[in-house]
Amino acid sequence: MMATSEAFLRGSVISRRTGVYCFSTKQSCSRTIKNLGKSFVELSRGVNGGWGPNALKTRFDHLSCKCEQAENVRELSFGDEKGTQIHGTDDIWSNNQKAELVQQLGYENGNLSSLGKVEKEENVDSIEDEAWKLLRESVVNYCGNPIGTIAANDPADSSIMNYDQVFIRDFIPSGVAFLLKGEYDIVRNFILYTLQLQSWEKTMDCHSPGQGLMPASFKVRTVPLDGDDSATEEVLDPDFGEAAIGRVAPVDSGLWWIILLRAYGKVTGDLSVQERVDVQTGIKMILKLCLADGFDMFPTLLVTDGSCMIDRRMGIHGHPLEIQALFYSALLCAREMLAPEDGSADLIRALNNRLVALSFHIREYYWIDMRKVNEIYRYKTEEYSYDAVNKFNIYPDQIPPWLVEWMPTTGGYLIGNLQPAHMDFRFFALGNLWSVISSLTTVDQSHAILDLIEAKWSDLVADMPFKICYPALEEQEWRIITGSDPKNTPWSYHNGGSWPTLLWQLTVACIKMNRPEIAEKAVAIAEKRLRRDKWPEYYDTKRGRLIGKQAHLFQTWSIAGYLVAKHLLANPASAKILVNPEDSELVNAFSCMLSASPRKKRGQKAAPNQSFIV
Ligand code: GLC
Repeated sequence: MMATSEAFLRGSVISRRTGVYCFSTKQSCSRTIKNLGKSFVELSRGVNGGWGPNALKTRFDHLSCKCEQAENVRELSFGDEKGTQIHGTDDIWSNNQKAELVQQLGYENGNLSSLGKVEKEENVDSIEDEAWKLLRESVVNYCGNPIGTIAANDPADSSIMNYDQVFIRDFIPSGVAFLLKGEYDIVRNFILYTLQLQSWEKTMDCHSPGQGLMPASFKVRTVPLDGDDSATEEVLDPDFGEAAIGRVAPVDSGLWWIILLRAYGKVTGDLSVQERVDVQTGIKMILKLCLADGFDMFPTLLVTDGSCMIDRRMGIHGHPLEIQALFYSALLCAREMLAPEDGSADLIRALNNRLVALSFHIREYYWIDMRKVNEIYRYKTEEYSYDAVNKFNIYPDQIPPWLVEWMPTTGGYLIGNLQPAHMDFRFFALGNLWSVISSLTTVDQSHAILDLIEAKWSDLVADMPFKICYPALEEQEWRIITGSDPKNTPWSYHNGGSWPTLLWQLTVACIKMNRPEIAEKAVAIAEKRLRRDKWPEYYDTKRGRLIGKQAHLFQTWSIAGYLVAKHLLANPASAKILVNPEDSELVNAFSCMLSASPRKKRGQKAAPNQSFIV
C-alpha cells in the first residue's frame, strides 16, 4: 500500500515536472513538500482518518514548478478549463439580486446602476492611478503566475525583514481590490496555492503546526535544482509562526482564507473553485481545527497573544474580539460553501451550534455602553450560582477611569477580550468593524458602534484613520503587558497607532449600515496624506500626526485598503461580497436564548443542541 502511494505521489509530480522530483533534498526549500509527502503516506494508510486520495492528488498536482518551463505554466494552472471561465463583472447580479441586495444591505441611496462594473480608467483620479501602479508592482509570481502581493515594497528600505513575503492577512485587501477590478487570476491562484501550504501534519510535538493551520506568510524562493547546476526551481516556503518574531501562531489566516474564498465566488460567479474536493477538504480542516474540543468552556476561540493582526505581545491572549469576529464570519461563509454530504453532517451541526452560542456570548457579554458600565459599577461579586448576574466575577474596580470619561451617552462597542475576572475595555477597531460586517452584532449594536466612531472621531480618526485600538497602554501597564516592547510604545504601532489599511473594513461596515458618509469623511482625511507620505504602514501619536517610527513605506495593505475603500464608496453594492447578512434562523435561536437568559433560570433549556456555557 505504501509503495503504491509513494509511486502515485511521485508519479503525479514527475509527470508535471518532466523528470524533476520536487522533493528536493534541501531542507530549506522543501519543507512543505516534505510535510505533504509524509502526510500523504500517513493519509493513504488511513492514519488521519480518511481524506480521500482525490483530495490529495489534486493538492499534489500543483506543488512546484521549474522556473524555466514557461510552456508548462498553463499546464500548472489550476482546475479544469471550465473553472477558468469566469463571468464578466457586468452580469454578476441580476435585477432581482440587486433588489434583494438593496433590501439586505438596507442601502437605498447607493449607486446600484454601477453594481459590479469595473471602474473606468478615465474616471480614476491620479492617487488611485498611483495606488494601482504600486499594487501591481507588489505582485509576486510563482511559476509565471501571479500568486500574491508582498507586504511592503520600498526599494530604499534595508530592514525589510519578512516584509518581502506574502502575508495571508495582508493579501485580503489586495485580493479584494483585484476582484473588484475584475482581475481574478491572482486571487484564484492565491487561494489554491495557499491551500497547498495548509498544514497536514498531525500535532505530534509542540513545534509543528496543528493540522488545518494556514501559514501567516510565505515566500517564493528560487533554489538550485538538484543535480543540475545551471537550473533553478521555485518553491513556496511557508511560515507558520516558527520563524516569526515571538513565534506567534496565525489563527486568523485560515479564517481570512475562507472569507476570501467566498468573496471570490460571489464576484466571479465561478463556484468551481469552492466546489473542488481539495478546497472543500481545506475548509473542513480549518473548521475542525477551530471547532476541536479543548479545556475551555466558552464558545469563543481561545488563542495565544499575537495571533491576529496584532502579532506581538499586547495582552490580547484569551478570547480576543478580532479572532471571534473573523471566526463568526468564517463559519457563516463556510456554511454557505460546504457541499452537503453525509460525511459533513456532524461538522455542520457543530458549526450551527457554535454560531448561535458565539453570537449570544459576544452580544451579551462583550457589549458595553453607558448603561452597561453602570451595571458593572454596581456589580455584586463572588456569586456562586448558575444564574449569577456577574457571571465572570468582574470586580467593579476594574472599570478604568478613562472609560467613564470616554464612553459617549449614545453609542457603545464590543470590548476587546473577556476572561474570568477580566474585561479588557480597550476598543479594538478591526474586531468591532468585522462584527458589524459579519452581523455578529445586532443591528442596534452595529449602529451604536458607528455612533461611537462618530462621537469619538478625534480619538479614533483624528488626522489619520484608523486607530488600531484605544487607548494606548502607558507606563506601568505598557511595561507589564507588552514586556516593555520598544516598538509598541504608547500611541505607536499596535499600541494605539493609526493604520490606514483599516479604511476598507471601516468602509464595508459603514456601507452595510447605510452610513457611507462616515467612511467618505475618513477616506478624505487619509487621502490628503497617504501618497505624500509614501503609503506608510502606520502612524504614531494620539492624533496620528507622525509617520510611524518604524513604519515601512509603500506598505501594500495601506495601498490596497485605500483602493478597496474608494471602489466600494463608488460602487456600494459590491460590499455584498464581504458582508454576512443577518441570518433569520440565528435571530430566532438567539431570541430563544435570550428568553432563557442567564438572568433567568438556568434550568430552562435555551435551544436544542445548545451545548455551550452562555
Ligand atoms: C505586522 C502586522 C501584521 C502584518 C505584518 C505584515 O507584523 O502587525 O498584522 O501582517 O506586519 O504587514
